[in-house]
Amino acid sequence: MAQGFLTGKGAIVTGGTRGIGRAIARALAMEGCGVAICGRDGNSAQTAVNELITETGSHITGLGADVRDREAVAKLFSTASGAFGGIDIVVNNAGIGVFAPVADLRAEDWNRVIETNLTGVFHCCQEALACFKKRGGGYLIQIGSLAGKNPFAGGAVYNASKFALNGFSEALMLDHRHDNVRVSTILPGSVDTDFTPRTGNTKSEWKIAPEDIADIVIGLLRMPARTMISHVEVRPSRPQKR
Ligand SMILES: NC(=O)c1ccc[n+]([C@@H]2O[C@H](COP(=O)([O-])OP(=O)(O)OC[C@H]3O[C@@H](n4cnc5c(N)ncnc54)[C@H](OP(=O)(O)O)[C@@H]3O)[C@@H](O)[C@H]2O)c1
Repeated sequence: MAQGFLTGKGAIVTGGTRGIGRAIARALAMEGCGVAICGRDGNSAQTAVNELITETGSHITGLGADVRDREAVAKLFSTASGAFGGIDIVVNNAGIGVFAPVADLRAEDWNRVIETNLTGVFHCCQEALACFKKRGGGYLIQIGSLAGKNPFAGGAVYNASKFALNGFSEALMLDHRHDNVRVSTILPGSVDTDFTPRTGNTKSEWKIAPEDIADIVIGLLRMPARTMISHVEVRPSRPQKR
């Protein structure tokens, strides 16, 4: 069992079955944290749990849970709380993107993106706050995007979801900072995951690696309780020239 500065803590990483969430789950586990992950696909969640246990030797659990579904979110939190004795850290990472000009955007895609990237975060934050109350505080880490700051053509619904996430997260922080709840939003640029279709099967060396975002999460959690970093903007040092 890995030991580290998070030994004895419990965490939930939504969308921890691949990409950025999985790298964050692994990094938390390597610091001794109990970690619960979820994704919509229960089989992928179980496979990821088994692989993460092999990689880290830590206490990891997970299940198929769609963050849009409040009952599924409640089950995720009760499973994780039961496994670890409580929840101290929640990483709201699950997210999707649909990219189309507004005239072509289907209403169902608008709903899917907003319900996942915004309403899903609301569900998880409410469940998290109830858990944090029992522990005397906790840490919420929101995986936003530079698309929450910089609009781009074809990005209307994704931009809207990530801009809104910033406003929601700042207001939440103001509501609950005196309950010892810290809130940080990480705003990455392009990260090398399956979020956007890859060209071939190769890694994009110029992009941010998911592990780099995981390092930022660990850095945030290492800050003394008196200090809260609200936003971290992170981008590829040398993006591909267009
Ligand atoms: N990659 C980038 O360039 C980039 C840049 C900035 C910000 N981000 C943000 O980073 C986060 C993670 O992205 P990623 O690149 O790691 O994407 P990814 O590789 O596509 O992984 C997304 C994860 O979220 C899960 N997920 C999606 N919808 C879900 C739902 N409704 N309920 C529960 N889980 C769900 C997926 O599992 P299932 O498919 O099984 O549901 C998967 O585990 C997202 O919020 C994204 O907006 C990504």
